[in-house]
Amino acid sequence: MDTTAAYNDRVVRQFTIMTVVWGIVGMLVGVIIAAQLLWPALNFDTPWFTYSRLRPLHTNAVIFAFGGSALFATSYYVVQRTCGVRLISDRLAAFTFWGWQVVILGAVVTLPFGFTQSKEYAELIWPLDVLIAVVWVAYAAVFFGTILRRQAKHIYVANWFYGAFIVAVAMLHIVNSLAIPTSLTQSYPIYAGAVDAMVQWWYGHNAVGFFLTAGFLGMMYYFVPKQAGRPIYSYRLSVVHFWALISTYMWAGPHHLHWTALPEWAQSVGMVFSLILLAPSWGGMINGIMTLSGAWHKLRDDPIIRFLVVSLSFYGMSTFEGPMMAIRTVNALSHYTDWTIGHVHSGALGWVAFITIGSVYMLVPRLFNREQMYSVPLINVHFWVATIGVVLYIASMWISGVMQGLMWRAVNNDGTLTYSFIESIAATYPYYAVRLLGGVLFFAGMLIMAYNVWRTIRPAEAAAPAVAPAANA
Ligand code: HEM
Ligand code: HEM
Repeated sequence: MDTTAAYNDRVVRQFTIMTVVWGIVGMLVGVIIAAQLLWPALNFDTPWFTYSRLRPLHTNAVIFAFGGSALFATSYYVVQRTCGVRLISDRLAAFTFWGWQVVILGAVVTLPFGFTQSKEYAELIWPLDVLIAVVWVAYAAVFFGTILRRQAKHIYVANWFYGAFIVAVAMLHIVNSLAIPTSLTQSYPIYAGAVDAMVQWWYGHNAVGFFLTAGFLGMMYYFVPKQAGRPIYSYRLSVVHFWALISTYMWAGPHHLHWTALPEWAQSVGMVFSLILLAPSWGGMINGIMTLSGAWHKLRDDPIIRFLVVSLSFYGMSTFEGPMMAIRTVNALSHYTDWTIGHVHSGALGWVAFITIGSVYMLVPRLFNREQMYSVPLINVHFWVATIGVVLYIASMWISGVMQGLMWRAVNNDGTLTYSFIESIAATYPYYAVRLLGGVLFFAGMLIMAYNVWRTIRPAEAAAPAVAPAANA
């Protein structure tokens, strides 16, 4: 079968390239804000370059531009391959690509100018929120429309995860963004007080659960077995994993609001569901890693498999750590400290970025009809640079986070605080330096990937032996 004609790979190629581009932009901003925390003078007294404006630019760029493009690319690729049909509409798919890029460019302009709704991960002003909703509905139409037209009877489990991610994000985004506009750039949320906080963290936590987890699990369920050349370890476990995960995640949001004005019973619900979440998360991780059983040697020879499997280890680590941090007494120590930042990046860099990088290395040669990436040794270099980068990042943040928590609660015999706040900041500086080094290494790895991707796809390489597209399906 000539898959070039059968499948719409143009939109997959576009999103894949933008994954690399936005990954570099978002992580560069991450490196800049990490440097600003160490040397505040790097703000240059320029409003649009201050930490407070660049931080949301970082989070939006890495989550929605880098992660989002990766999810669009892989979901479009996977749904076509596993359903045996082309996307239902090339025009609608193209609209999702260009619409999403406009949203991102809107973020790149508005956030540094200080236009924000001040809700974490939902900062964008209302006109951009409307555009996101429209693009998302088009995305859902393309994805589910393609599933409806499928040739295969069965809906492969990766599509279940992608589908849940698409439906949940639509719901979360619309409910959390409900606001009354007062001008083109300003609006007021329809919720107030503790209700506003609860809706925001129901959104925020499920943005983690569905955007940063369910979608990437879809990626895992296709690319890990494919690269390992083996069927998924247990299909039954993947179905249990799916239902358990999506039914638990929705209730865990209150763990972001421990010790706040939120009713205590709601905090307890959040804590209990977070602890339960450990089981499905680890079920999924084990299912992914065990897919390699009988093919462990590939870990030695294949750097792409290494990216994929190490991502699962970080997934396991962050989903063990998260439930622990959700225990109210632990959270009393961890909240507001760098421990949270360490947790975030063990999930974001170790899990989300690693699985994405592995999938991009798999996709690029297939999408551009090359036998393999331009340089496999460079993938290996990328793997080690990135791994050392993550480890430096998260270890430094764990140590500094626990140290901050302990310093803030230390009291003298007479009940006065042992340390002033500024002393805790001074003690944190060495760890900020190590985090910056880790970030620079991770970023350097992204540049290596960009070079490798560019050398693989540039027209001059077309002379290299191309493989028949069918072999790539
Ligand atoms: C070179 C790589 C990266 C560097 C150097 C970096 C650096 C940073 C820094 C300095 C912060 C602010 C920490 C603070 O407020 O104390 C931050 C926040 C954050 N970053 Fe990154 N980051 C990187 C990659 C990523 C990636 C790939 C993702 C997601 C896929 C991500 C997601 C986040 C999130 C969600 C936050 C907010 C955390 C919170 O509010 O608790 N980062 N990052
Ligand atoms: C079983 C799974 C997980 C549970 C129960 C969990 C739990 C938690 C808890 C308790 C916090 C701290 C809340 C606070 O004190 O403010 C937190 C923060 C966070 N987690 Fe997780 N986590 C899990 C997995 C993950 C994964 C896999 C990722 C990333 C891919 C992630 C990303 C984040 C982010 C971005 C924050 C910071 C939110 C903010 O304050 O801005 N989590 N998580």
